[in-house]
Amino acid sequence: MIFYFSGTGNSLYVAKNIGEHNKEELVSIASAINNKDESYEYTLKDGEIIGFVYPIYAWAPPKMVIQFIKKLKFNNYKNNYIFTVATCGENVGNAIKVISNLLNKKNLTLKSGFSIQMPNNYIISGDVYTKKVEQEKLSQAELVLNKINDVVKNSKDGIFEIEKGFVPGILTSVISPLFNKKGLDTKKFHAGHNCTGCGICESTCNCKNIKVRKKPIWGKKCIQCLACINLCPKRAIQYGKGTEKKGRYKNPNINVKEMMIK
Ligand SMILES: Cc1cc2nc3c(=O)[nH]c(=O)nc-3n(C[C@H](O)[C@H](O)[C@H](O)COP(=O)(O)O)c2cc1C
Repeated sequence: MIFYFSGTGNSLYVAKNIGEHNKEELVSIASAINNKDESYEYTLKDGEIIGFVYPIYAWAPPKMVIQFIKKLKFNNYKNNYIFTVATCGENVGNAIKVISNLLNKKNLTLKSGFSIQMPNNYIISGDVYTKKVEQEKLSQAELVLNKINDVVKNSKDGIFEIEKGFVPGILTSVISPLFNKKGLDTKKFHAGHNCTGCGICESTCNCKNIKVRKKPIWGKKCIQCLACINLCPKRAIQYGKGTEKKGRYKNPNINVKEMMIK
């Protein structure tokens, strides 16, 4: 059972790939959270592998992933193999440790953990990579994925291959809380004249925080996955004045339909 969260398809692609190689079903964390509000309870088959795959936001797992793991409950857990993969543009700080600590509190043990560099989607600060760099990152990611599939298939224990970056402790313990406190504001999102009201932003919003009434209107529950701004087919969505000239990113192996939140 592979639990995933994804804004622009990188993490969904990774989860799908590992799921196919290991014949494990995928479970969308965003769909689970949006459809239930108390506990998330799953019954495991014997020997079932458990995975958590998500993007890195400010050197930590997204708030929604943390919230989900805190309320997660397994029936029939018998020391099942647990792994995690964080997709990122560059590095992940201590995000894997955050996941490991959360699992420990539930008497679950993380057996292996990885980061995979993939194209960046955070166009609010910075821009997308050039097409060349994007291609290089995607090709390199395939090699890392092969390695992860080998580790997971053979239930290898104690394999942690993580690009943590410089001063990972500070990045995760200082920047991440700041980002969650100050960086999730939706006031600057707006749609331009070329918005057709197609509704893709509403149906791919991980927080079900957008309502399209001719044009999208944002509520307050955002976690900045940036699905809305990156997946808009008309590039009509902007954040303040800084994103008009910037690129947009969607993982090329994933289609928008797969990104829709049930
Ligand atoms: C709000 C936000 C914050 C991000 N912070 C980081 C970061 O701290 N380090 C990093 O390497 N990439 C960071 N990224 C880039 C994403 O982690 C990366 O592009 C990821 O693969 C996107 O996955 P997805 O397509 O499944 O949403 C950030 C992206 C967003 C939207």
